[in-house]
Amino acid sequence: MAFFSSLAAAIDSYTGLSPAAFFTILALMVSAYRLVSAFFVYPDEESAAKRSLAPQTPPPPEAFSPPPQPVQLGDITLEDLKAYDGSDPNKPLLVAIKGQVYDVSIGRLFYGPGGPYAFFAGRETSRALALMSFDPRDLNSDLSDLSEAELEVLHDWEEKFKEKYVKVGDIVSRKCKDENENESGKETKRDED
Ligand code: HEM
Repeated sequence: MAFFSSLAAAIDSYTGLSPAAFFTILALMVSAYRLVSAFFVYPDEESAAKRSLAPQTPPPPEAFSPPPQPVQLGDITLEDLKAYDGSDPNKPLLVAIKGQVYDVSIGRLFYGPGGPYAFFAGRETSRALALMSFDPRDLNSDLSDLSEAELEVLHDWEEKFKEKYVKVGDIVSRKCKDENENESGKETKRDED
């Protein structure tokens, strides 16, 4: 207590101010100093300060590496296409329109997990795109009941995909695929004989 009374007496005798007024003025001066000195930070210091705030762990390399070049898959069934829905990061992202399979890996932000159009990845999207529908029942290629206008919408999507992505295969039925594989197996065998 004696310390505070002698501090108050010292402030009064040196400055002629009450302790409350003295500390208020002191606080105002410190704030003004900090405000003004903030305008005179050298650019280097500023970027160093920003760097020190930046996360210290480097981002994973795959966050910035471009996707690998599209690989031709040839014939693929709707069932096998599902494996290319982005759940396996080592597989390309594929989308089918009108039986044509496109590698949309460069559009991972659209079609990858959590993307707004992840719903289309690994699927035949013709009907859904023609109808601009997010209904899972429209993830197929049944166009039999569509209007001219809806087919036109689908055509525009197809053009967009052709322009932007690489076609890597065609949708075939399981039966057709098995037959083709048997056929090429026979041919290889004939070549060997
Ligand atoms: C509120 C409604 C919607 C908004 C605001 C919206 C917004 C967008 C935007 C900004 C893009 C990027 C366009 C570009 O690359 O230039 C896009 C692309 C796309 N949208 Fe939508 N969209 C909507 C509804 C839909 C619907 C209903 C569908 C289909 C069911 C759809 C399917 C697509 C597809 C397939 C792409 C192409 C992505 C690509 O380039 O590969 N969108 N959308």
